[in-house]
Amino acid sequence: MIIAVDGPTASGKGTIAKALAAHFALPHLDTGLLYRAVGRQVALNHGNPDDPTDGLAACDFPDSLLADPDLRSESTGALASRVSVHPGVRQALYERQRAFALQPGGAVLDGRDIGTVIAPEAEVKLFVTASVTARAERRFHEMQALGRRVTLAEILADIEARDARDRSRAEAPLIAAADAVVLDTSDLDRDAAIAAAIRIVQAHERTDR
Ligand code: DC
Repeated sequence: MIIAVDGPTASGKGTIAKALAAHFALPHLDTGLLYRAVGRQVALNHGNPDDPTDGLAACDFPDSLLADPDLRSESTGALASRVSVHPGVRQALYERQRAFALQPGGAVLDGRDIGTVIAPEAEVKLFVTASVTARAERRFHEMQALGRRVTLAEILADIEARDARDRSRAEAPLIAAADAVVLDTSDLDRDAAIAAAIRIVQAHERTDR
């Protein structure tokens, strides 16, 4: 079974995808991490994230970069969003994601275009969303816990800018697949959001029998 989990930044999609993978014993790929690695590699190369050639050159980042804690920072997230608009970058990362999705036994992938581009045949598609305020507050608490100095207003502005860029890009914009189930986590805590996602997958399993 392939489970596609898409949604905007800080919607809870990563937490949900990880929990679904554990519950259904499936391997999990956080595809945002690949774009973050490209963004970080552009910075390490002293390149320009808005330049498609610099973006493409950064796609052969070493695998060790995926373990770099800096990939989780807000600034790397913004770089990732900027490099992800380039069709060449998306193409370069496509095969790796597609191979992960098609592995025997299935997989859970989370990102922006899993249900629409990477695995349109996914048996279950979740589009996880939440209000901008709820997402900014969540991200703010995460950053505080990591000891990062950033204000709520900065995070709000960053999330709005990233949403606008991710939704308006020409190539694979952030959009719910027509057959996705939308899960709004604005008023759900972590456990309630995970439980709701598990129920959605189980409902699919029942109708599939
Ligand atoms: O999910 P995230 O915040 O780690 O993603 C960082 C950026 O990477 C996001 O703003 C857009 C891009 N991205 C993408 O374009 N497609 C994906 N499947 C995953 C992430």
